[in-house]
Amino acid sequence: MKKKALSIALILGMVMSLTACGSSGSDKGTATPGVLVMATNAEFPPYEYHEGSEIVGIDVEIAQAIAKKMGCTLQIEDIAFDSIIPEVVSGKADIGLAGMTVTPDRQQSVDFSDPYAASSQVVIVPEDSAITSLSDLSADSVVGVQTGTTGDIYCSDDDSIGTVERYNKGMEAVQALTQGKVDAVVIDREPAKVFVSENPGLKILGESYTDEDYAAAIRKGNTVLLDEVNSALQELTADGTLDNIVAKYISAN
Ligand code: ARG
Repeated sequence: MKKKALSIALILGMVMSLTACGSSGSDKGTATPGVLVMATNAEFPPYEYHEGSEIVGIDVEIAQAIAKKMGCTLQIEDIAFDSIIPEVVSGKADIGLAGMTVTPDRQQSVDFSDPYAASSQVVIVPEDSAITSLSDLSADSVVGVQTGTTGDIYCSDDDSIGTVERYNKGMEAVQALTQGKVDAVVIDREPAKVFVSENPGLKILGESYTDEDYAAAIRKGNTVLLDEVNSALQELTADGTLDNIVAKYISAN
């Protein structure tokens, strides 16, 4: 049933592409004309998460706005975080949009759009934890992370941290923290705020672990799509759309 709905949506998208995305005959750089396929991992509120049967969030709305500007229909692929770059590289997805941090390593595999958000990795601990600052992370510390994220990469490289436990979802790492299976969780700031608000007894350390930028991942050399996405992002920034989307999901405080 779900598959059927998806293929109908796809066909609809293709039909629409005759009148929209493909009408000018210009190449938007997407694998299927008229469709912008976004790979994401919808376990990352407020950027992408499930609400009932829908996937919503800041990245979803940004992608919708970009697709609209391109005259394309948006199709979302919800996959494991560490499969996003491979899907973009193989061309299965046109764009990876997943609160993804720009790193020199990832830039070896994909191109990144201009950054659209600033973030940081923060440390979540139980309210009564002996870990009160970054310098308290030690060889005895067990830190939970989401597999393949910068939290995982940086903590695994950090000699001062004893053990890194990897989880498929950030929320699973946070659950392990509430169960005392790990001593701390290193994760992006905004999801951390959401998870802490949903799990009493946890807090975020004042000092952040890293500072990062989020950008869209695009197959290397696909400059047509890269330019489309960058100019869409510029327009969405200039006309306030981006700020409005963020304000819908993140309250300034
Ligand atoms: N910013 C981090 C990274 O790029 C975590 C992103 C996780 N995103 C997600 N949708 N699960 O590695």
